[in-house]
Amino acid sequence: MKNSIIINREIWNEKHDWKKNGDEWDGQALKCKVNYNYWKQSLYQNLINSNIRENDTVLEIGAGHGRWSVFLAKTAGTLILVDLSSNCIEFCRNLFVDRSNIMYVLNDGKNLAGVKDASVDFIWSFDTFVHIEKFVINSYMQEIFRVLKPGGRAVIHHPGRNHFLLWLGFMRHLGNMGNRFYRTISMCRTRDTDGWRSNISKQMVRNLASKNGLTIIDQLQSWDEKEKIGVPRFNDYITILRK
Ligand SMILES: C[S@@+](CC[C@H](N)C(=O)[O-])C[C@H]1O[C@@H](n2cnc3c(N)ncnc32)[C@H](O)[C@@H]1O
Repeated sequence: MKNSIIINREIWNEKHDWKKNGDEWDGQALKCKVNYNYWKQSLYQNLINSNIRENDTVLEIGAGHGRWSVFLAKTAGTLILVDLSSNCIEFCRNLFVDRSNIMYVLNDGKNLAGVKDASVDFIWSFDTFVHIEKFVINSYMQEIFRVLKPGGRAVIHHPGRNHFLLWLGFMRHLGNMGNRFYRTISMCRTRDTDGWRSNISKQMVRNLASKNGLTIIDQLQSWDEKEKIGVPRFNDYITILRK
């Protein structure tokens, strides 16, 4: 199944049951062999808290049911929540009903229309770019460059398939056997599913970011090297960018 904007909207707006409002995605913690709440706190401390300053303008792409938005909202002066699913935007409106410093943007899945140029200090996206296609990532990189203030940062979670095998990505659409074979060679995973990861490598994210004028500060799989806490499941990566 392709990772198109239409299919993403269908899945997240209609099909997914959001039974734990995002906390159902505890597989990365399991893979790291740590408690899910511990993993979440570690992610907050190392990737969110260390990148946001008091009163920053913060933007999240693919907010879902606000699993990370509640952390972003602790420090942000203004928080802009973007999602292509109207149900997710509605859920977040209710979640933050008492907050007046949160803006909601129901977008077309590739643009940040309505967000002013050079107005954002920090951009966050988790478990969203892992499901989207190259041309959409390219469009978001262009938009990230447009809306970030000079010196502003973005932290993006995305797939890390083998760059040199991406041309074989058509195999994902050749039924179970093809999908399994491609998952094994592009993610080095013999078990597990492919987590509906799009056909993206960390090199590709790096290329798209620099093509759009962004500087790559880091690409990592573990933010806590000692305890090996990160996003190893499906061989995912986190890219940290600066304008
Ligand atoms: C797997 S959920 C993750 C939600 C949340 N970030 C979390 O970690 O709990 C993916 C989210 O990204 C949104 N999404 C998917 N494709 C998108 C796109 N191209 N642009 C904006 N949002 C998108 C979906 O509607 C959904 O809310």
